[in-house]
Amino acid sequence: MTQSYLSKTKELQDKRLKYVPKGVSNGNLNIASSAKGATILDIDHNEYIDFAGAIGTLNVGHSHKKVTEAVKEQVDKFLHPGFNVMMYQGYISLAEKLCEISPGSFDKQAIFFNSGAEAVENAIKVSRRFTGRQAVVSFVRGYHGRTNLTMGMTSKVKPYKLGFGPFAPEIYQAPFPYLYRKPSEMSDEAYIDHVIEEFKDFFIATVAPETVACVVMEPVQGEGGFVIPPKRFVQAVSEFCKEHGIVFVADEIQTGFCRTGKLFAIEHFDVVPDLMTVSKSLAAGLPLSGIVGRADILNVADPGELGGTYAGNPVACAAALAVIDIVKEENLSAKAEILGQKIEDKLYELYAKHEYVGEIRRLGAMVAVEIVENRENKKPNKAKTAEIIKKANENGLLLLSAGLKGNIIRFLAPLVITDEELAKGLAILEKSFI
Ligand SMILES: Cc1ncc(COP(=O)(O)O)c(C=O)c1O
Repeated sequence: MTQSYLSKTKELQDKRLKYVPKGVSNGNLNIASSAKGATILDIDHNEYIDFAGAIGTLNVGHSHKKVTEAVKEQVDKFLHPGFNVMMYQGYISLAEKLCEISPGSFDKQAIFFNSGAEAVENAIKVSRRFTGRQAVVSFVRGYHGRTNLTMGMTSKVKPYKLGFGPFAPEIYQAPFPYLYRKPSEMSDEAYIDHVIEEFKDFFIATVAPETVACVVMEPVQGEGGFVIPPKRFVQAVSEFCKEHGIVFVADEIQTGFCRTGKLFAIEHFDVVPDLMTVSKSLAAGLPLSGIVGRADILNVADPGELGGTYAGNPVACAAALAVIDIVKEENLSAKAEILGQKIEDKLYELYAKHEYVGEIRRLGAMVAVEIVENRENKKPNKAKTAEIIKKANENGLLLLSAGLKGNIIRFLAPLVITDEELAKGLAILEKSFI
């Protein structure tokens, strides 16, 4: 570590404070210089094992060779003719591929945007046009983005909503089960029945189903704390939507591309959504999102009504086509299950040692640990969570929190992580649980 590197870090940290608004948070204050697989180096040559994966963007890891080659090849051809000015093959091929690999045997189409929030907004646009209805239903603890419409659909007032209103009208948040926090005297089955009943009552007490264009659900809640709904609940929601002509949208932005051990998380629930929003790991770090699903819904808008200047950028499409090859070639679904199990095993070792480890839950490699005061009172322990994450960062492990009460640690490590990287990461994790 040389003095000049150290002062460069400090200089950039100071400039960041001066020139970049504090509204963008930073989990780690060091300056990245290179990254590969599940490892990032900073400009002072410190190494970080990445269990955050740019918030679920890097299922195929940092700078996968196949992705960078596809990107370079595309960069040498052209950067962006603008799909609505002159078409290019990458967009069309990616639409075809997504239609092939997504659930559902009906006629499908796919359309691309830049961010997750933009995909969710556009899923709402087409659902509204298709149904002729206005209302949108999301779920308590859900997260769908930071634009005005998606903020309205999102829970967690602070930091996502406070002072940023007014929000768009006709957005309603329905109940969503949270088994760890069910009343202790209720059995799991009775609790699930109860929440299904509450969900149905919501359409009596809060919004009439015949006014609802779409229900947007994360198959596993991401920012909400990796809350995995019971299969029966997801199926009840899907059936309710069918019965009432409501478009069922699965927001797979954080859960997609093998994170949960299946290509898409909704496949765990034996439910076929009408539309699916995708982003994050779709393009391995390049800004790209999309909607894939029923052609009769997506094709409802007329020319010019959908799209955007950069939507479906060819470089991002090239990366996404490479990602879709990689997930198959490297069997990332199976890898997710193995990785998730290894993280779970380590967490159970920590559970045995620390009374503040409340619950460990996972679907594939979407693993979370809930930190509480003690197992008896289950009180969310945000301070301890922050302490663990801070310690991990100081020791070279990038970790993220989640949950309405900030007391959940979530694991979004690249699915291609090597045994060596994983062992290093888990050792730091263990040291951080003090
Ligand atoms: C489920 C889900 N939907 C939507 C979004 C918003 O995506 P973006 O930040 O790209 O707008 C996110 C981002 O974390 C997400 O996890």
